[in-house]
Amino acid sequence: MNWNITNIPSQQGRTVLVTGANSGIGREAAQALAANGAHVIMACRSREKADKAMVHIRKRWPKAELEFLELDLARQQSVHEAARQVRERHGKLDLLINNAGVMWVEKSLTEDGFETQFGTNHLGHFTLAALLIDTMMNLPGSRVVTVSSLAHRAGRIQFDDPNLAREYGRHRAYAQSKVANLLFALELQRRLFAADAQTLSVACHPGLSNTNLIGPGLVRQSPLRLGALVRPFMALIAQNERSGALPTLYAATSDAVRPGGYYGPQWLGEFMGPPGPAQVSGYARNEEVAARLWRLSESLTGVTSPLPEPQSGEQAGTAAE
Ligand SMILES: NC(=O)c1ccc[n+]([C@@H]2O[C@H](COP(=O)([O-])OP(=O)(O)OC[C@H]3O[C@@H](n4cnc5c(N)ncnc54)[C@H](OP(=O)(O)O)[C@@H]3O)[C@@H](O)[C@H]2O)c1
Repeated sequence: MNWNITNIPSQQGRTVLVTGANSGIGREAAQALAANGAHVIMACRSREKADKAMVHIRKRWPKAELEFLELDLARQQSVHEAARQVRERHGKLDLLINNAGVMWVEKSLTEDGFETQFGTNHLGHFTLAALLIDTMMNLPGSRVVTVSSLAHRAGRIQFDDPNLAREYGRHRAYAQSKVANLLFALELQRRLFAADAQTLSVACHPGLSNTNLIGPGLVRQSPLRLGALVRPFMALIAQNERSGALPTLYAATSDAVRPGGYYGPQWLGEFMGPPGPAQVSGYARNEEVAARLWRLSESLTGVTSPLPEPQSGEQAGTAAE
């Protein structure tokens, strides 16, 4: 039988943080985890949108334990403040889902001067995880789940120009940020292993899912709004949000996942279908690239993680299934 939402084990007593929980895959994941008893911290940049999402979830699950946390991943100061608040309010975290993301935006910089997709999708989550990992490391069953994309396969880290100042392309920038997500998740697992931590780091991708990122986002960002022509077909060719959230929920809760695993839909070249092992590009499996990205992320953000560098060849499984 294919894994589905009814296979999620009880989440009672678990504190979960989902970034970008007000919309799309993040909202679906937040809802499913709260429905199974988790206390869900909805980390969003807009209070208003988070409130709407909470109303939506509570309509179906009136007892859902939901909490708003202001988090703008494009502002490092906001990430620091959010991490501080989590430590103050909870002191521990069982599950961190690095889900929020932007796609194919016009050339722009975050408040800290990072290219927007790299700065938001990767560096924002890098800082968040680095600042919270010590609240998770000693908790049995704790996990960090990072949402990547099929687009990671085209991604390369431009180490000499990570902000793509010289040659910006929005698809290229998105792919860079998504391969960074995957390289980060695998390096995090190696470092957790080196630290003898209880926490697992795993990654996932939703295939093609009809969310704001792909639907309205595509319309907004396409030249001459040609995306509007495509929009009606999206519902036919893409999974709905609920199916799109399954790989995330599988990575977050299934007993079958392994350290450093990568999970996605199983059908039509991983575009849709039930969740299971997904294919990692050769580039994303490269440990030297991952270690170099980690050092670059530390130097750009000024945040140093408490996790030791892995010994060469030391790993708790690679993501290739
Ligand atoms: N949908 C797909 O087919 C697809 C495919 C591959 C990968 N993904 C990945 O799946 C993840 C979720 O995307 P989705 O499809 O569910 O899209 P979505 O509905 O647009 O959700 C994206 C979420 O990220 C939030 N976000 C964006 N910038 C942020 C920032 N600076 N700080 C905090 N939150 C921010 C958004 O908040 P606002 O509502 O305030 O903008 C929203 O809650 C992303 O990482 C995306 O790259 C999606």
